[in-house]
Amino acid sequence: MNAQGPILALCGSLRHPSRTRQALERALAAAARLGAATELLAGEPLRLPLCDGRPEAEIPPAVAELRHRARAAAALLLGSPEYCGTYSAVIKNVVEWLGPSILQGKVVGVVTVAEGPSAQGSLRALRELCLLEGAWVVPAAAAIPLVEQVFAQPSAPLAVSVLRHLDALGKALPGALRRLHGPSGRPPAEGLPA
Ligand SMILES: Cc1cc2nc3c(=O)[nH]c(=O)nc-3n(C[C@H](O)[C@H](O)[C@H](O)COP(=O)(O)O)c2cc1C
Repeated sequence: MNAQGPILALCGSLRHPSRTRQALERALAAAARLGAATELLAGEPLRLPLCDGRPEAEIPPAVAELRHRARAAAALLLGSPEYCGTYSAVIKNVVEWLGPSILQGKVVGVVTVAEGPSAQGSLRALRELCLLEGAWVVPAAAAIPLVEQVFAQPSAPLAVSVLRHLDALGKALPGALRRLHGPSGRPPAEGLPA
């Protein structure tokens, strides 16, 4: 755990442009307004080979870079489009490559987007996956349904009510780090419980 590092967002869509990326950027902006350093990995850097249990000596450079950035981050913000009622294979592959050695004890936020009327399937499944890997998933979360409509008309009542969850999630991440590590931002001497 590196409580001094940035909040690193990882985008589970390889599409360009990506609504998942747009949602992550909005949540990161809310975190940045509270003084947090933020970073985003999206697109080509996350076009990784499938995680297949190969020996550590054969880990591709892009995976080594992802692991390095994730290890250095104070918190992760994972984003996924809703695909067939759950999270994307891209974000599952990222989580598999990170594994519990990086995710255990890491503060994690989750955001999902869907073209249809619900992004809850991917949200629930991705939060559960992160919990299984030992992450400290923050209670705040954002599932953005009807995402084209929401971003096309951000002042409409539906969009306002949905987008405020993204802002709350962004603010919750530095808040969780302060709660865990105190105002100094440093982890306790004994570290976090496993
Ligand atoms: C393979 C696939 C499956 C999808 N399944 C769903 C779905 O179950 N429910 C839904 O509302 N939208 C579904 N969508 C639409 C995406 O959630 C939507 O296009 C989203 O904006 C994609 O995120 P992106 O813009 O970040 O790529 C699916 C799209 C693809 C390509």
